[in-house]
Amino acid sequence: MDGMTLEGRVAVVTGGAGGLGRGIVKDLAAMGATVVVCDINETGAKEVASSVAGGRPYTVDLADPGSIDALTARILADLGRVDVLVNNAGWDKVGPFLQSDPGLWDRIIAINLRAPIQLTYAFLPGMQESGWGRAVFVSSDAARVGSTGEAVYASCKAGLIGFAKTIARESARSGVTSNVVCPGPSDTPLLAEVAAGSPKLVEALKRSIPVGRLGAPRDVAGAVAFLASERAEYITGQTLSVSGGLTMV
Ligand SMILES: NC(=O)c1ccc[n+]([C@@H]2O[C@H](COP(=O)([O-])OP(=O)(O)OC[C@H]3O[C@@H](n4cnc5c(N)ncnc54)[C@H](O)[C@@H]3O)[C@@H](O)[C@H]2O)c1
Repeated sequence: MDGMTLEGRVAVVTGGAGGLGRGIVKDLAAMGATVVVCDINETGAKEVASSVAGGRPYTVDLADPGSIDALTARILADLGRVDVLVNNAGWDKVGPFLQSDPGLWDRIIAINLRAPIQLTYAFLPGMQESGWGRAVFVSSDAARVGSTGEAVYASCKAGLIGFAKTIARESARSGVTSNVVCPGPSDTPLLAEVAAGSPKLVEALKRSIPVGRLGAPRDVAGAVAFLASERAEYITGQTLSVSGGLTMV
């Protein structure tokens, strides 16, 4: 299909070693991009990067602004520019808000909200200068409708939507789009961790999802790949749920 290529483009995917990240890396690489696979999981990042043509592993701790600075400097030194930034990494410690540890709030905010802001700050100038760029933020349906046990995480994910829309407005005349994808419950290690304490949760989720199954990495990756493509140049500032119809807003 015309315009569904990323030939010659450099794409950065955070959390590239994770469940959804792997799918995103695979699709962007299949479209011809050189894909930078960033993760705190060094072994996983290497494994995923080596599984695709043009994959490059980078290790980073997104909870640490200094580590992000080092990462962005290395990527720009190695590859010159970034055309596509997929802020996909995420982390949470699930539990009722009033039983949460205030000491963990900063970590949740750093990984889920501050890191995407810092990465955008580093790579957006190059996109604007070149006249082409794509920022895709992997948020969550938790941002749109709330999610019991995920108060701080959901507020970060909602923050990403406001941030992405503002970047969309500020970059619209520069050929740079900025959009949000909100996965619903998806079959990844993150969900397995959440469901570990409540075995009936997954069955209850499947029953409540209109399509009748959990999301798969390829579902989310397909939406990200389209938004990263040439063809999506007229779509910006949008929030797309990929949740089998669970959230219709
Ligand atoms: N799986 C779901 O049901 C679901 C639902 C809604 C939203 N999401 C979002 O989708 C995105 C991907 O989630 P996933 O399900 O693939 O999770 P995952 O746990 O499988 O992958 C997350 C990846 O992020 C990496 N990561 C975590 N902390 C990091 C840090 N400090 N520095 C660098 N990398 C770090 C992990 O190592 C992992 O590879 C996340 O933003 C998540 O919030 C997932």
